[in-house]
Amino acid sequence: MKLVKATHLNGTIAVPADKSISHRSIMFGALAKGTTTVRNFLRGKDCFSTLHAFQKLGVPITDDGETITIEGQGFDGLKPAETAIDIGNSGTTIRLMMGILAGQSFETTLYGDDSLNRRPMNRVMLPLREMGAILSGDQNTEFPPITVAGKESLLPITYTMPVASAQVKSAIIFAALQAKGTSTIIEKEASRNHTEEMIRQFGGNISTEGKKITVTGPQTLQGQEVIVPGDISSAAFFLTGAAIMPKSDVTLTNVGINPTRTGILDVLEEMGADMSIHDQDMQNQSATIAIRSSELTGITISGDIIPRLIDELPIIALLATQANGTTVIKDAEELKVKETNRIDATAEELQKLGADITPTADGLIIHGPTKLHGGQVSSRGDHRIGMMLQIAALLTDEDVELDWAEAVAVSYPHFFDDVTTLAQGGEVK
Ligand code: S3P
Repeated sequence: MKLVKATHLNGTIAVPADKSISHRSIMFGALAKGTTTVRNFLRGKDCFSTLHAFQKLGVPITDDGETITIEGQGFDGLKPAETAIDIGNSGTTIRLMMGILAGQSFETTLYGDDSLNRRPMNRVMLPLREMGAILSGDQNTEFPPITVAGKESLLPITYTMPVASAQVKSAIIFAALQAKGTSTIIEKEASRNHTEEMIRQFGGNISTEGKKITVTGPQTLQGQEVIVPGDISSAAFFLTGAAIMPKSDVTLTNVGINPTRTGILDVLEEMGADMSIHDQDMQNQSATIAIRSSELTGITISGDIIPRLIDELPIIALLATQANGTTVIKDAEELKVKETNRIDATAEELQKLGADITPTADGLIIHGPTKLHGGQVSSRGDHRIGMMLQIAALLTDEDVELDWAEAVAVSYPHFFDDVTTLAQGGEVK
């Protein structure tokens, strides 16, 4: 696909719904008792993977185009699926479902596309096995298809996490909600806390003290009304586009600002972006962010900020190509096991457009500013690499051809239309 061209980005955009919260709204809705309604559900492929998976487990879920309604069955009301469940590209779906299915009395097999079937699952299987769950990967590997044999009586666990991962943490929490007794999880670094927050929203109990999480099971949750805020990970593409394209001025509304997700805002501020945050609604954890192009300076990004911006690192790398000086990204080896190896994909695809970017064992080193040029690039099947390359393409007058552009649909089906609208100075509702 020939990517959209623009001289600047201007206008207003209501950011699409948060992917992490949309997944969890279906999961909690299915596991609660009573009805859950979800407004502003993200209609992307990944979230539909979750929705369809729970329908296959016997949960009535309807969609009137505006609101998703889930008739919750409780932890003990899921039914065996008739066939193996296709999870598509979604790591969040498969890993969180492993924790949910660990406490069920029936067997389920979960598999995905080529990318998902290569992603590591021991990080979830090992702690769940300690809780007594029976799980196995394809031909005794740690890779999908994963079969969860189910075990009604799970044991609580005390577990120090070897990786900073909200997916792993959430899988253990879902199992712990079904186990009899108190589980303690110690995070390597604090990661996104949507699971913990939604347990409380659905009437359950969980306590957090720094990196220590305590949860006692079994618990019963109650259906709720969920309104999903916008996804800061989707907003990141326009925050960056506006920051680096001359004469740009974009206002982003309904941006989710859960503090475990706002590392990108800290980075933009430290680099010197002309950005202001308005109308903060702490109840819905959302805000309006206005951003204009400005001079930027390279910085070092490492340590405990990494989980707060893990999905934004490819677009932050592009941001760094336009900043003065050197940007060093460290402690981000987790990028290697995302939808693609995002260290290699970011470096190699941006090099094709002329960027001065070098991959390292745990991150990237970028020297800027660099004038990018046209070329032929690929998303490699990774939505965030595809969207990053579209924003990169705005910086050159020459053509950029993107292979595998359709990958963006897992989190942002209308992405290219929205870029076109802002390139024309319009409003995305
Ligand atoms: C997610 C957690 C992160 C993130 C992913 C969504 C979640 O993965 O990269 O896009 O919703 O819990 P890890 O937990 O593997 O870091």
